[in-house]
Amino acid sequence: MIKTAVVTGGAGFIGSHLCNRLIANKYKVIAYDDLSNGSGRKNLSKKVQFVKGNIFNIDKLKNICKKSDVVFHLAVKPLTMSFDKPEEVVKINDYGTYLVAKLCTEFNCKMIHISSSEVYGTALTISMRENHPLFPTTIYAGSKAAAELYVRGFEKSEGLKMSIVRPFNSYGEFMRDDTYAAAIPNFFNRISSNLPPIIHGNGNQTRDFTYVEDICEGIILTDQTKSALGDTINIGQGKEFRIKKIAEILVKKYQELTGHNSKISFKFQKTRKGDVFRHRANISHAQKILGYKPKIDLEDGITRYLKWKLGLKN
Ligand SMILES: NC(=O)c1ccc[n+]([C@@H]2O[C@H](COP(=O)([O-])OP(=O)(O)OC[C@H]3O[C@@H](n4cnc5c(N)ncnc54)[C@H](O)[C@@H]3O)[C@@H](O)[C@H]2O)c1
Repeated sequence: MIKTAVVTGGAGFIGSHLCNRLIANKYKVIAYDDLSNGSGRKNLSKKVQFVKGNIFNIDKLKNICKKSDVVFHLAVKPLTMSFDKPEEVVKINDYGTYLVAKLCTEFNCKMIHISSSEVYGTALTISMRENHPLFPTTIYAGSKAAAELYVRGFEKSEGLKMSIVRPFNSYGEFMRDDTYAAAIPNFFNRISSNLPPIIHGNGNQTRDFTYVEDICEGIILTDQTKSALGDTINIGQGKEFRIKKIAEILVKKYQELTGHNSKISFKFQKTRKGDVFRHRANISHAQKILGYKPKIDLEDGITRYLKWKLGLKN
């Protein structure tokens, strides 16, 4: 049977890759997005039905959810926006999630809620299992933790069929590249303008950077695995990399691809507030119940990203 899937935030970075991968997995896919960011709009396959709409437009959302088997909920306002527009972040990330969970409950549609490793805060233990305590360090992380709890509340009190996925930092083609961009696009923009990449803090903070296609694979496996229903699952690479190291790999690969050989140094600035110091996923649960296995290592993933940015063929 062909499943119909709605992807909220489907024109975003991860959402657009997820839509295309769902199509490859023979789902019928509707991407729902208000294009307030929409950095992945151009990435969407022609087979994806795109519906422009805000998460608060209940009638529009109702119309598409009632015909669907599963909603992958990714619509979000980003971490960096929580420093200048915290209320906007709380409104969309929390009330938006509440509305999606309510509609999914009403139409008996499964909800795959995409949370974030940010809910954990800095690692108290390495590696980080799903039962690691939640100690958010930003309003964004708090909004993501609260959203999970609403979804869980709907499951327990209203019978919502749901799973929660906690991706660790993701990167790849079609990441947003505006004022709210994350580290990798910011490094690229500086390097390609002959400016030193800016590193906040000493650069020793670590992240479990995971290529976007691996994240999407984990999300789809979660929907396809019966025993994942009601579960919370980390999706990452299971490795940690210092931010400074990521900048160094990016510089090295950029130079290899462009032949640009002048020395590139880094510019260190003060630590970003609420920055997490250490993150490494424990992915043994995903490996065991989903058969999940990340395929693209960091150097390969960064090369793919750079080739896309530079307009080179992969
Ligand atoms: N990118 C990462 O490294 C990462 C890591 C862990 C978890 N996540 C989670 O993955 C999900 C997707 O993240 P992303 O990086 O692709 O973000 P993104 O900003 O690229 O995509 C989010 C999309 O949501 C849309 N959107 C925002 N507000 C909306 C609204 N009110 N109504 C409808 N659409 C709206 C935006 O236009 C955008 O296209 C999020 O839930 C995020 O928390 C991302």
